[in-house]
Amino acid sequence: MTILVTGATGNVGRHVVDQLLRAGRRVRALTRNPATAKLPEGVEVVAGDLSEPASLAPALAGVTAMHLITFDGADGTALRTGPEIVRLAEEAGVRRVTMLWSGERGPVERAVEASGLEWTALQPVEFMANALGWADSVRSEGVVREPFADVRGAVVHEADIAAVAVRALTEDGHAGAEYVLSGPEALTVAEKVGILSSALGRPIDYTELSMEQARERLLATGAAAEVVDFVIGWHADPPPSAYTVVPTVERITRRPARTFAQWAEENVEAFLLS
Ligand SMILES: NC(=O)c1ccc[n+]([C@@H]2O[C@H](COP(=O)([O-])OP(=O)(O)OC[C@H]3O[C@@H](n4cnc5c(N)ncnc54)[C@H](OP(=O)(O)O)[C@@H]3O)[C@@H](O)[C@H]2O)c1
Repeated sequence: MTILVTGATGNVGRHVVDQLLRAGRRVRALTRNPATAKLPEGVEVVAGDLSEPASLAPALAGVTAMHLITFDGADGTALRTGPEIVRLAEEAGVRRVTMLWSGERGPVERAVEASGLEWTALQPVEFMANALGWADSVRSEGVVREPFADVRGAVVHEADIAAVAVRALTEDGHAGAEYVLSGPEALTVAEKVGILSSALGRPIDYTELSMEQARERLLATGAAAEVVDFVIGWHADPPPSAYTVVPTVERITRRPARTFAQWAEENVEAFLLS
């Protein structure tokens, strides 16, 4: 019983890998670059690219369950290879799949939902890990620059997204479920900055960016314009799910959702000068 984790070097995937290992599962991790993957001992690391399905045969051999990302890291757009990935997975004997939502139902989601696989869709709101984008300016200038000062987000800890994925991959009863995942409170940027400041034990200033400045900054990361427009639009006019606290993490994992204060304590090193 091997479980394949795609996106294994990412914010969510690293937690999926760690938690499956702790649960005593046999874990295989997919990465486009095993040399830089830095995955823990006990994981079988396999090279492959979801945008090139022909490269996936070694990763899928003998796999019964799979955590699947739905976007292509090259530019953040939806993976267009959903039908091929699903066909190869079914041929390899995969039965269960968790899908990490990218904001819209794309080719991967459509292909998985139309397949005979037992699937569970994970729809997290904003990740707490997005605050890692503040690390450089906090370290060098003690400042956070973000748009949308008054907008609240029910930010969710990546370990909680992973914990729900692990339940869905290893327990019965989650097939066909679409889980919207939030954290335990809806916070503004200023509130998050305050919490981070307490964890660091020093003040952090907050400067509000205009929407255009935020757009330019995102485009400079290499994200496709359609992805940038989606992200900016989401924050400028968030749907209720973005700021609504839901009990799904606790219901599925049987433990309270992690707080942003907890996230800040765990990630304090990233914000300190070494
Ligand atoms: N950030 C948010 O607030 C938020 C909220 C809701 C949903 N999401 C969604 O969550 C996803 C991002 O998840 P994350 O933050 O955990 O990821 P991440 O930290 O951005 O890491 C990307 C991961 O995907 C893998 N990857 C990318 N393209 C690949 C490809 N073509 N083939 C194989 N592996 C590939 C990378 O593996 P290698 O580099 O090792 O190959 C890496 O492990 C996106 O779909 C995003 O839309 C994000």
